[in-house]
Amino acid sequence: MKRIIMSLALLLAVTQPAHADGGKMQSPPNALWQEECGSCHAAFPPRLLTEENWKQLMANLDKHFGDNAELSAKDRQAIESYLTRNAGSGARHSAVSLRITETPWFLREHRSVSPKEWVHPEVKSRANCTACHQNIAQNRWSEHSISIPGRGRWYDDDDD
Ligand code: HEC
Ligand code: HEC
Repeated sequence: MKRIIMSLALLLAVTQPAHADGGKMQSPPNALWQEECGSCHAAFPPRLLTEENWKQLMANLDKHFGDNAELSAKDRQAIESYLTRNAGSGARHSAVSLRITETPWFLREHRSVSPKEWVHPEVKSRANCTACHQNIAQNRWSEHSISIPGRGRWYDDDDD
């Protein structure tokens, strides 16, 4: 019996749709991270930068993209550990600028967004994820929860 259940679980895992990126982006819940890193902008999914990137970013919170995002040593350590535990890996999730929006993954994933759409008054910055991803409060990044200002709802069937 146990063996049957195991093979069923394996079968289910194998038959998941190929483009489940949105689902993979779901971050394990963490109240402290959500509150501290989701107050000025969206709480960016840890998977979108590498462990090295997060360490560097967390070591320089007083100089954070022109802002001061300093935390107590205790909170900083707790959040850093959460981020690095759930970090992405490989060159495609890495950027010298420590910007998710400048990683090869991001640029490729968003290649269908036009230069004009990036500077739409309701978007302004690429880091303004919520302008297009409307359901991230529910932890949903999937392409079925996207609406581009000036274009409308987004569906893509030939995704890879
Ligand atoms: C006081 C406000 C503030 C807080 C708090 C804050 N940030 Fe930011 N963060 C910013 C600003 C401003 C930017 C630049 C946004 C832009 O370019 O549009 C930014 C950008 C970023 C970027 C790069 C976004 C890109 O362009 O890809 C990352 C990654 C990031 N923050 C992570 C974090 C993490 C992790 C925390 C929690 C430890 C945090 N931030 C807390 C203000 C803040
Ligand atoms: C101007 C609108 C816009 C902004 C701003 C934007 N995105 Fe997207 N995003 C899109 C579109 C459109 C797609 C779908 C691309 C495709 O499927 O070809 C997408 C796809 C994604 C996906 C993959 C979803 C899936 O199911 O395949 C993730 C994850 C994602 N974006 C994260 C982010 C993050 C994180 C930010 C902010 C740092 C951001 N996006 C900013 C429009 C935007």
